[in-house]
Amino acid sequence: MIKFAKIDLMRESAMELVHDESRQGEVFSVPATTHRPFRKHFYIESYGCAMNFADSEVIASLLQKEGYGPTSQAEQAQLILINTCSIRDKAEQTIRRRLSELRSVKNKNPSVLIGILGCMAERLKEKLLEQEQLVDLVVGPDAYRTLPSLISSADEGNKAVNILLSREETYGDIAPFRLNSNGVSAFISIMRGCNNMCSFCVVPFTRGRERSRDLPSILQEARQLIADGYREVTLLGQNVDSYYWVDEATGVTITFARLLEEVALISPLLRVRFSTSHPKDITEEVLQTIKRYPNICRYIHLPVQSGSNRILQLMNRTYTREWYLAKVSRIREVLPECGISTDIIAGFCTETEEDHLQTLDLMQQCDYDLAYMYFYSERPGTLAERRYEDDVPETVKKRRLQEIIDLHRGQSLRSMQKDVNKTWEVLIEGNSKKSDAHWQGRTTHNKMVVFPKNGISGKGDYVEVLITHCTAGTLMGEQISQTVLNQV
Ligand code: SAH
Ligand code: SF4
Ligand code: F3S
Repeated sequence: MIKFAKIDLMRESAMELVHDESRQGEVFSVPATTHRPFRKHFYIESYGCAMNFADSEVIASLLQKEGYGPTSQAEQAQLILINTCSIRDKAEQTIRRRLSELRSVKNKNPSVLIGILGCMAERLKEKLLEQEQLVDLVVGPDAYRTLPSLISSADEGNKAVNILLSREETYGDIAPFRLNSNGVSAFISIMRGCNNMCSFCVVPFTRGRERSRDLPSILQEARQLIADGYREVTLLGQNVDSYYWVDEATGVTITFARLLEEVALISPLLRVRFSTSHPKDITEEVLQTIKRYPNICRYIHLPVQSGSNRILQLMNRTYTREWYLAKVSRIREVLPECGISTDIIAGFCTETEEDHLQTLDLMQQCDYDLAYMYFYSERPGTLAERRYEDDVPETVKKRRLQEIIDLHRGQSLRSMQKDVNKTWEVLIEGNSKKSDAHWQGRTTHNKMVVFPKNGISGKGDYVEVLITHCTAGTLMGEQISQTVLNQV
């Protein structure tokens, strides 16, 4: 593996990749075997959720067909791409700062093309060309197939824009070129867009209508991954439980539960994760499918956003606090060891102290293993921006967020402590971040485990680890044995 600067091969948690824009501006490493001499090179930085990271791999595949090889040095590229996120204002500000840093590359070599892809391209459209003078290409999430013609047009000195959204595009036939892969876990995009219209959210506007990818191409991608030595896939969609595909030939409908089962059946060696589940859509059938297959991971990301019914209604989440709590208890009943995580927004429009206390109370009741917490950031064009006033002062938003974070900190530490003295099966993902003498991998319920190497096990192996101690983010232990799974 050739390593480049600014890479983080180890993924701290699958969920973090889904929507935490702290994983920003990641450049990639390129497996040595695929690093052929190319005449032209592209450089890509990805921001935002896992869907964007998965899209960058589709883009890399399309560009390779056009004769572009990947490089991790912007200065070596003829084409610089930034795959952007619009979820919060902060995400867009980071990208704008990055663009101004890239100005120096363009000044040195004016023939370099700079392209803005993804959600910010979709949101701002041609305006981006006016606002950011050095940008040559603006390409929305459904228009990546037109990249070659857009690049030719930009090469001839024209500004090139395609932000058309599609009702059908899934890129199902494109085999992603794995960027920054640890060789063990990979994303598989199973659907695109979102029909939910949560009032705070920009995604339905940047990603368009929801559509599901065909089952055969998903299964083909998963089979190829296992043949290439991968051991874990995360099925990605903004709302995976509404996956729905009809096989025209047989008339059979494939729901998310059925899809999960089909992927799980590919091999007991393949762990299956998924994200994100909407509380209104996750079904009993999905829970029972997870229960039936030990290789479907015991981990569900179930974003609640708020604990107050009044706020949930304004957010257009279409469930109540009681409905949500009932889902959580059902998950714990069917899958007692299941990890549950959430997303929470502090300070949404009109949120009172009482609403905030309701959120803290719900967190207490759910006892989350992991939470991603944000303060509300108004997004232009969303329902909330049009209908409600962003009236909670920033100081109050931040104070409430801090209270949510403080409560969660205690909860996540207790959740880690519960695993001490237990033995878990861990899939080894690679060296620990801090020491080459240790492996790092995750349990089925998505907790990171670090343990000393024993000279026998390797990356991609399943091993049993006895947990001896922990921090708030990591379990530490000793390997007891190689599990039987490795011999399958
Ligand atoms: N489809 C996923 C979420 C995608 S966005 C779902 O429905 O859960 C990831 C998270 O970002 C959301 O769950 C929400 O907590 C947060 N988020 C979205 N829009 C936001 C905004 N305008 N301000 C603050 N946080 C926001
Ligand atoms: Fe946004 Fe809601 Fe769709 Fe998630 S489900 S992407 S929060 S609109
Ligand atoms: Fe993802 Fe950000 Fe777009 S969270 S869908 S990249 S707005």
